[in-house]
Amino acid sequence: MAAAVLEFVGVGKSFAPGAPVLEDFTLAVSPGETVALVGPSGSGKTTALKLANRLLDADSGEVHVFGEPVRAPEPAALRRRIGYVIQEGGLFPHWSVRENVETVPRLLGWPDEKRRVRAEALLETVGLPPGEFSARFPRELSGGQRQRVGVARALAADPPVLLMDEPFGAIDPITRHRLQGEFLRLQDELRKTVVFVTHDIEEAVQLGDRVIVLGPRPTRVRRVIELPPGRPRLPASCGVPEAEQTVMEELGLT
Ligand SMILES: Nc1ncnc2c1ncn2[C@@H]1O[C@H](COP(=O)(O)OP(=O)(O)O)[C@@H](O)[C@H]1O
Ligand SMILES: [Mg+2]
Repeated sequence: MAAAVLEFVGVGKSFAPGAPVLEDFTLAVSPGETVALVGPSGSGKTTALKLANRLLDADSGEVHVFGEPVRAPEPAALRRRIGYVIQEGGLFPHWSVRENVETVPRLLGWPDEKRRVRAEALLETVGLPPGEFSARFPRELSGGQRQRVGVARALAADPPVLLMDEPFGAIDPITRHRLQGEFLRLQDELRKTVVFVTHDIEEAVQLGDRVIVLGPRPTRVRRVIELPPGRPRLPASCGVPEAEQTVMEELGLT
């Protein structure tokens, strides 16, 4: 197996003494792989993503990105390698759509014109024609459109790694279905290494190459489920119902 792009090795994290959120959390993600994290609310899914992006630091254990400790590179270098889609979109409300998408390129000091060209191309990619959407503010968008801006923002500096925290949550089922399809199409083309969090078991099984089920706190990886190759994964195709059943069992939902 190729060297892991992102690796958690025995990671511990707590926010209060004696109440660990993650404990001995270990997971390796291979290049180009899409991994779905599912687990109870409050189990530390967002915390795990933030540890990979250095929005938080681990108390113990190691987080490695491209084989080096996540603490090694400068934060700007890390942001260039890792795109982060924040739960609920997390857009800056007083910035236009284009300014939001340009966040990381601006941090990286790209010139204005290069930023604009990149932002407009990405808005086109996520199905928001820039002529119509660039100048709008987040409040002038639907939930699904805000999520798309969040995805465009995460892709802006073309990072090889994408962390997505419930990227298709809180949107209507029709839009969600369309965005999932777009994600698969994009991923076919871009082959990013992706870790995404979801509460939707069907989504985890449809989009993931593996599903990682987390237990209750203190959280470890409870179960890893490999999905059969090939897409789309039709609901009744080989291995799909079994995978969904296994995830349900591990989450205690059966
Ligand atoms: N910055 C923080 N300070 C204190 N507690 C936090 C902080 N961030 C998360 N937590 C707590 O850690 C636990 C895991 O949170 P989180 O990673 O957001 O869970 P999930 O994303 O799986 O729902 C929760 O109990 C949450 O309240
Ligand atoms: Mg969360």
